[in-house]
Amino acid sequence: MQFKTLLVQLENKISIITIDRPKKLNALNRETISELHHALKDADTNHNVRAIILTGHGQKAFVAGADISEFSDFDVQQAAQLSREGQTLLFDFIETLSTPVIAAINGFALGGGLELAMAAHFRIASTNALMGLPEVSLGVIPGYGGTQRLAQLVGKGRAMEMIMTAQMIDASKAEQWGLVNAVTPQEELMTYCMSMAEKIKRNGPLAISAAIKSVNANFKNDTNGYDVEISEFAKCFGTADFKEGTTAFLEKRRANFSGE
Ligand code: COA
Repeated sequence: MQFKTLLVQLENKISIITIDRPKKLNALNRETISELHHALKDADTNHNVRAIILTGHGQKAFVAGADISEFSDFDVQQAAQLSREGQTLLFDFIETLSTPVIAAINGFALGGGLELAMAAHFRIASTNALMGLPEVSLGVIPGYGGTQRLAQLVGKGRAMEMIMTAQMIDASKAEQWGLVNAVTPQEELMTYCMSMAEKIKRNGPLAISAAIKSVNANFKNDTNGYDVEISEFAKCFGTADFKEGTTAFLEKRRANFSGE
């Protein structure tokens, strides 16, 4: 599928989705949100894709936020719709995708940009990356899950500080706070993320999606994560991947998972 605001490449069963609005520092407008939904859905339903890397075009920005020009004149109802639609179509959608998503944060990740990175399953940043939720400086709060996911990742006190001061933190502080898992020089960012994706690729895809569901269950108030784990654990035993994984171990060879 052709996209106007994205570049999509498939390399060795790894889908690389690049947000491509460099003149606007890759800010997320409605079209980009919709295209991201479709690109992620395509990748998730493609048996040839085992991991997804999400990044921004250029060397300056991952995503500098939601496109402020699109919502500056919205009223209360329009704002509620924007937030709800965005969360459903993109942010919750990524978090619950069966295929693992790694955010490669190559520069500014602000507002909706950091919210996008936080919806991914984990994050790697380049040394020049700057991250923040500056919405209160515009008189609003994060509306794409930022108040929830930032607190989950860095803890309540640090989330409160970042949100209330609207200040950016650099990559090294983000790593120290657990917002990103690792930091690399910018020119090594994609290689590093590809090496992570390669490691993921060797493992059973159905087990990986069961793990995503189970870990996510810990963060849902109405769900008992231990029960979800029991059910997902048990389901793995009914898959060809489990038979292949255990047989390969006993036969002292590398498993060749079919994803069935
Ligand atoms: N929405 C819409 N346009 C944006 C944008 C956003 N979130 N972030 C950047 N842009 C646009 C700028 O308006 C500018 O467009 P123009 O050239 O047509 O004027 C272009 O991207 C380049 O940005 P600019 O501000 O000139 O670059 P800079 O290097 O001086 O500053 C930032 C970089 C990231 C500090 C600054 O762009 C910024 O603060 N952006 C908004 C961040 C934000 O508040 N995000 C949360 C939104 S909810």
